[in-house]
Amino acid sequence: DYWQATVTTPVNIAVIKYWGKRSVALNLPTNASLSVTLHQDQLCTTTTAQCSKEFASDRLWLNGKEEVIKPGGRTDTCIQEMKKLRKAYEDKYEDPHPASEWHVHLCSFNNFPTAAGLASSASGYAALVHCLATVYRLPNTSTELSLIARQGSGSACRSLFGGFVAWDMGVNEDGSDSKARQVASEDHWDDINAVICVVSDEKKGTSSTSGMQRTVETSPLIQERIRLVPARMAEMERAIAAQDFDAFAQLTMKDSNNFHAVCLDTSPPIFYMNDVSRALVALVHEFNRVSILQKRGHRAAYTFDAGPNAVIYCLRRNVKDIVNMVMHYFPQAEPFKDTYKVFYGKDTP
Ligand code: DP6
Repeated sequence: DYWQATVTTPVNIAVIKYWGKRSVALNLPTNASLSVTLHQDQLCTTTTAQCSKEFASDRLWLNGKEEVIKPGGRTDTCIQEMKKLRKAYEDKYEDPHPASEWHVHLCSFNNFPTAAGLASSASGYAALVHCLATVYRLPNTSTELSLIARQGSGSACRSLFGGFVAWDMGVNEDGSDSKARQVASEDHWDDINAVICVVSDEKKGTSSTSGMQRTVETSPLIQERIRLVPARMAEMERAIAAQDFDAFAQLTMKDSNNFHAVCLDTSPPIFYMNDVSRALVALVHEFNRVSILQKRGHRAAYTFDAGPNAVIYCLRRNVKDIVNMVMHYFPQAEPFKDTYKVFYGKDTP
């Protein structure tokens, strides 16, 4: 006798980056961030949870391999927090099933390389929390669940919503107001696409967790970043509301470059971008230079997370041109599915 649920949760790619924690224990950020959640059946994590009174312990399998759940670690914290929500539900509604006392088995698959700087922790912890909420039959909202997903991985709190999502940094010491909020749904601006250029699918050198801690400890430049993000968040929300791609693109690129500048200002410095990443930056600027001359404004925006892979945001009508351009200069790039070299976001043409 057991309960079971399966959910699929997509990756999100930030356009205003989260970098820096003001509390490591609670995973509270030093600045707000904003991301776009990719389409359901693109990059995603699928997680199945089973809970049963027969199980002797909580267990987790990631891409077919069992992982140890460290007591007090991130996965354990998320599971325990979800059990607390379930317990509160049992008490409130006098639910006769003591599911909060049962152990849970979790089985999770990413459809893309783990830890290649492609936000596997974002979809992973979001899927974990969403799956447990489903298996426990909880009525909690996505915003409430985002408080728990955040403790797994900061960026995960944004994957509980589709479309355009802000993570408000909050001011409370207990983190109760550091949660995700949907800025606009996927239907609001549905012709925005992400072309993902996988420069390398190797595991990254410096994890985001340790990288951002080192930045907070050693970079004077991050103080300037913390100062300028609130205005950028406001301007980004405006650009999204107005579907102003030109402003969206400029801000996205500026913020990615500012984040990587802060990484370089860290001691010892952190390099996430490589020569191919920088060539892609030059290519996108050249592409935009031509369209700006033609009075069409920016037509493409790159952004890089904690790795060398580029995500190029553009409107659907420009996807073909951008993919052709990338393939022209990087002939080794092949379409998604086969090699994970270059692939499209929503609405592959
Ligand atoms: C560069 O969410 O992976 O992708 O909270 O320590 O798990 P932890 O960090 P994580 O950091 C993501 C950093 C980023 C920017 C972003 O997604 O906003």
